[in-house]
Amino acid sequence: MFGMNKSLPKFCDLKGKVAVVTGAAKGMGRADSLKLAGAGAKVVLCDIDVAGCQLVADEIKKMRGEAIVVKCDISKKADIDSVVAETLKKFTKIDILVNNAGIYPSEPFLQMSEANFAKVIDVNLKGSFMMAQACAKEMVKQKSGSIINIASIAAIKGFPGLSHYCASKGGMVMMSKVMAVELAGLGIRVNVVDPGAIDTPGTHTMEMKAEDKQAMVGGVPMKRWGTAEEIANAVLFLASDESSYMTGSVMVVDGGWIAG
Ligand SMILES: NC(=O)c1ccc[n+]([C@@H]2O[C@H](COP(=O)([O-])OP(=O)(O)OC[C@H]3O[C@@H](n4cnc5c(N)ncnc54)[C@H](O)[C@@H]3O)[C@@H](O)[C@H]2O)c1
Repeated sequence: MFGMNKSLPKFCDLKGKVAVVTGAAKGMGRADSLKLAGAGAKVVLCDIDVAGCQLVADEIKKMRGEAIVVKCDISKKADIDSVVAETLKKFTKIDILVNNAGIYPSEPFLQMSEANFAKVIDVNLKGSFMMAQACAKEMVKQKSGSIINIASIAAIKGFPGLSHYCASKGGMVMMSKVMAVELAGLGIRVNVVDPGAIDTPGTHTMEMKAEDKQAMVGGVPMKRWGTAEEIANAVLFLASDESSYMTGSVMVVDGGWIAG
């Protein structure tokens, strides 16, 4: 009822939940971590950049939240195993996984080396698979969990220089759909966020001319880059019980880019 806000449950409340976030040191992973912590989750910050994660952990502590840092290269199974072990040791369970870590180096198709192609698939697709499988094995024990895989509109639209990246993100979307149908009966939901052009440290260092970067958002109906927080809002919704009937969904957050 209106005027009784105190008794209303908080929208997207994550109190008591434990969230693992990969690529948490900067960009969208950092924004996701802060957003989930703000909603009450304890956060496990995973990245190859430990110093960056420590800064995010400090920010979370200032918000009176709880976080730990675990060094992890998601393309290495041993690192993933240590994320799970450290999380269980500190927080006893895993409720949420945000599979965010990813790389997007550009190389034209005709010049693409086998090593470069393999590296992007290894991190973006195989790394996300290994992390999702390891976390899902823990979620199964409690018959609940929410996995959010961060793909890209590059899963839907072909971008020059990104054959390896588009393949990895397209693969991630289809893997997520299979995970959703296999894991629904086990209480685990799996959804995807497809960001468009988002302003992050990663896109700042993209090998692209300034005019091409501007031209890129010229094709976006909203005519601007998105913010990492705008992605984190979608992640928070999918992590929470507010999205309890959603699994196998792909949420596009792109300022209308692929609609036109
Ligand atoms: N920024 C965009 O416009 C955009 C658009 C669509 C999708 N995405 C996807 O969103 C995710 C985050 O992108 P971003 O722009 O915030 O990136 P970013 O480069 O700003 O940050 C990525 C983080 O991931 C970490 N990382 C890289 N490789 C890793 C590995 N092997 N193991 C663990 N951590 C690793 C980096 O150290 C860094 O902290 C990526 O998966 C990216 O493909 C980005």
